[in-house]
Amino acid sequence: MTLGLKDSKATAGDHFKVTGGNPLFGEFVVQGAKNAVLKQMAATILASGEHHLFNVPKILDVEIMAELLESMGLTCQFEEDHHVVITTPAPDDIRPFADYELVEKIRASVTVLGPLLARLKAATMSLPGGDDFGHRPIDIHLNALKSLGATFTTSHGYIEGKASRLDGTTIVLDFPSHTATDNIMMAAVLANGTTTIHNAAREPEVIDLGSMLNSMGAAITGLGSSILRIEGVPILKPANYRIIPDRIDAATAIAAVIMNKGNVFIRHGVIRHMDMLLRKLAGIGVNIHPDNNGFTVWVNKRIDAAQIATLPYPGIATDYLPLLVAAMSTANGESIVTENLFEGRFKYVDELRRLGATMAIHGHHVVIKGVENLQGAPVKATDIRAGAALLVAATSADGESKVLGTTHIQRGYEDFVTRFGDLGAKIELVSNENSC
Ligand code: UD1
Repeated sequence: MTLGLKDSKATAGDHFKVTGGNPLFGEFVVQGAKNAVLKQMAATILASGEHHLFNVPKILDVEIMAELLESMGLTCQFEEDHHVVITTPAPDDIRPFADYELVEKIRASVTVLGPLLARLKAATMSLPGGDDFGHRPIDIHLNALKSLGATFTTSHGYIEGKASRLDGTTIVLDFPSHTATDNIMMAAVLANGTTTIHNAAREPEVIDLGSMLNSMGAAITGLGSSILRIEGVPILKPANYRIIPDRIDAATAIAAVIMNKGNVFIRHGVIRHMDMLLRKLAGIGVNIHPDNNGFTVWVNKRIDAAQIATLPYPGIATDYLPLLVAAMSTANGESIVTENLFEGRFKYVDELRRLGATMAIHGHHVVIKGVENLQGAPVKATDIRAGAALLVAATSADGESKVLGTTHIQRGYEDFVTRFGDLGAKIELVSNENSC
């Protein structure tokens, strides 16, 4: 499958040219959730036949996940209107091998482990990569899969998992890891007997994966709570499923409105998925109104400073953090933003400083002294959300900015230029070939 993104000859010199200082008005259509769809694509390994996924965002990570599945013998086809058809062959024709070249690009590739072990009782996978924001072990995944009966050996950068059978059991997670919960659910749906996961992740994307698995014939209860109960079933049928909207994409649009002022309808934005964040923002001067099939956000003055800390869901998501730090850079007063999940998630702070932000890192806190205006500058994205935060900040800065690291944005955002351009932001993708 190709979306034409990966083949677009992106080079290190490609950048976004951003001219700041335009208030935003209109409608922003939220894309399908990246952190749901990648695991839902992995889940298609669990049943042979033709799967239909709807509301799939056209992003690079989807393309990489499709490539990974195709390397195992599945086929993926992007149809019109964000519809993806994935055809899964019989188990004998699936090659349970996930190559370094693909796995190192996206963290979500680790979620092929559960389905492969469930269906083929074997999986060989390169150790996963993904965003560069700190040490990201997979011990919680492996320990849980071991309790279900799998064994693992590691050599030459690859993990080899095997199981003669998987048997349901009680699993207590040390931490409510998002992708570990996804992986265990996908391993347990075809296991013998009942699996109970305590301290499970409760993110909307985890619920959405569970709902898709149930629609395929799985028997998972407790979704959205911290205790999941999974009755193993012998076989699943192919999926026909519509993916939830992406709350981080919605939050990106909100951050842009905060920094640029304006009034934007966030179509498909789901308030209950973003409850804590929206409550926090409402308390510091962001106006949010529920509307039919979304909500409206408007801001007409500098927001107030705030103290914000990330936590696993239902807390404020770590993926919002770079966007919030950017938004607070022009707030009125001193803010403290605390990251509780990933130790290396502040790499973009130096880049925001280049745009004129006044902020300092103290351990896992950023102390931000709000300034009235940012100034355009050249900056570089280091991961998806950091990249989005820099782009959003640049749209509000005086003058022109150059945002390097375009691939990071394309990994998680469908057509950032057009979707924010339609609201009034001035962003242009400049390819290295056209610049001198
Ligand atoms: C997912 C999301 C990511 C988001 C994160 C937290 C995807 C593809 N990515 O990542 O965008 O920022 O949830 O909401 O869905 N941990 C361990 N051992 C493990 C697994 C995790 O120690 O085996 C630790 C991590 O280092 C981190 C914390 O647990 O400190 C949270 O990680 P986790 O919830 O697993 O994040 P991901 O699922 O990797």
